[in-house]
Amino acid sequence: MKCSIRLKLIAGFSAALPLMAIMGVVSFYSISSLVDASANADHTYQVIDGLERMVSRLKDAETGQRGFIITGEDRYLEPFSTGIAGVERELRDVRVLTYDNPFQQKKLDIIEPLIQLRMEKLTEAIKLRREVGLESALGKISQWDSGKHVMDALLSQAAAMEAEERRLLEDRADKTASTGATAKMTFVAGSYLSIILFGIIAFFLSRSISTPLSRLEAAVWDIGQGDLTTRVQVNSNDEIGGLGTSFNRMAEGLQQAVSTFEISNLELKQEVSERRQAEEEARSLAATLEVSNRDLQDFASVASHDLQEPLRKILAFGDRLNSRYGDTLGEQGKDYLHRMMDASQRMRDLIDDLLTLSRVTSQGNPNVPVDLAAVAEQVLADLEVAIEKSGGRLEVGDLPTIEADPTQMRQLLQNLISNALKFQKPGEPPFVKIKSQLFEDYLEDDTGSAHAEKMLELTVEDTGIGFDESYGDRIFKVFQRLHGRNEYAGTGLGLAVCRKIVERHNGTITAKSKPDQGAKFIVTLPLRLPEGATA
Ligand SMILES: Nc1ncnc2c1ncn2[C@@H]1O[C@H](COP(=O)(O)OP(=O)(O)OP(=O)(O)O)[C@@H](O)[C@H]1O
Ligand SMILES: [Mg+2]
Repeated sequence: MKCSIRLKLIAGFSAALPLMAIMGVVSFYSISSLVDASANADHTYQVIDGLERMVSRLKDAETGQRGFIITGEDRYLEPFSTGIAGVERELRDVRVLTYDNPFQQKKLDIIEPLIQLRMEKLTEAIKLRREVGLESALGKISQWDSGKHVMDALLSQAAAMEAEERRLLEDRADKTASTGATAKMTFVAGSYLSIILFGIIAFFLSRSISTPLSRLEAAVWDIGQGDLTTRVQVNSNDEIGGLGTSFNRMAEGLQQAVSTFEISNLELKQEVSERRQAEEEARSLAATLEVSNRDLQDFASVASHDLQEPLRKILAFGDRLNSRYGDTLGEQGKDYLHRMMDASQRMRDLIDDLLTLSRVTSQGNPNVPVDLAAVAEQVLADLEVAIEKSGGRLEVGDLPTIEADPTQMRQLLQNLISNALKFQKPGEPPFVKIKSQLFEDYLEDDTGSAHAEKMLELTVEDTGIGFDESYGDRIFKVFQRLHGRNEYAGTGLGLAVCRKIVERHNGTITAKSKPDQGAKFIVTLPLRLPEGATA
């Protein structure tokens, strides 16, 4: 059965309750008896006083009567009358006070006729004095010598009543004293018992509440210090026991969670180190690739350069052959020679283009602030003839200054604008729009961390023939063309160069188009390049 702290407290105080109740009853009883004793003593003194006053009033009446008899003056009758009235009043009061005491009532039954008798005699003597004279009254008084006996009898009855009252008082005082002694004893014993009982209750409560709470507090402190193996001993099945069990469960959970966390932390660390290793490998691969790329570029550059020489000779000798022996070659020979010269020329163009492409990275200039508006103006001047020929219209918006290679920016704009002018619908003059806007983007630096960068978005849009957007990627590859050379001149290198330039400046280039609905080329470039960003 679960024995809650509340139950324990109730049980402890219930044990103390009967003792307190006994002490309460005894105290009540003792106090009531002391109050009664005091009331009784008061009552006794009231009776005794009443009796004394009654006798005293009687004596007053006697004194008044004597005064009148001797002097015959009425003024002595006043104390007489007051005394008579006082006697009767006091007698009545004493009777009321002792109504529950048969002994005293009996005594009063004796006293009352005596007083009556005495008062009758006194009144009779006054009457004689008034009506007959002093002699006669004095004679009568001397005859009534028995009046003294009446007074003595009365006094002795009153004394007996007083003695009875005093005896009763003593009896009650004895009883009160013994009650007081019992109460005192009960109090002392009760107090000792209470102290012992409360001590026992306190001991048990401390054992079942305070001690386990302290243990719990120590365990919580240990957990706080990082010792997750700490557990508390649960000895009771009350709330504190429940608290201990919950604490142990919590510590267990915490320990498990921490160990899980440690494991996942370990795994995470391993993952991070693996990722770092992979990044390291990727970096070294990139470095190797860059080296081989550079080797390849060098090779392309050297090869193109070296190929130019024999090509030049082929063209030169072909030219001589044509001029000196052209007539002897015959029609077919001339045709062969002509085709050979054409192919050689084309090869020369291709080699030139390859050289141009390889120079984008091999012969790039350092980055400086470049005013794109000025660059666009120069390009338009260069393309003046082409613009006039096509009858096209150009609209150039505000262009900013960016950090870049000025020559390559010019190349970029030139290739894009010349394409826009070139790939026009037959008989329809092209309209080309060049505009730009700034935005913010997050770029990764060499360490792999991202940072906000101000970017430029440059668009070159035309109203020409356009192309199917599924070729959007292909057109940026070297020598890839979507249209026949006979329709639109070119080698298919312009956009490849553009992409290389843009990538060298940490930017991007994409195209949007639909056949017959014009094309839009979007270039993004950072306004400022991080140091050493370009090759
Ligand atoms: N504005 C455009 N409208 C439609 N097609 C385009 C446009 N620009 C490029 N193209 C397509 O992409 C191909 C590749 O363009 P790119 O500039 O690389 O080569 P090119 O202009 O044909 O030759 P080059 O630029 O070497 O003189 C073009 O041949 C053409 O088919
Ligand atoms: Mg082109």
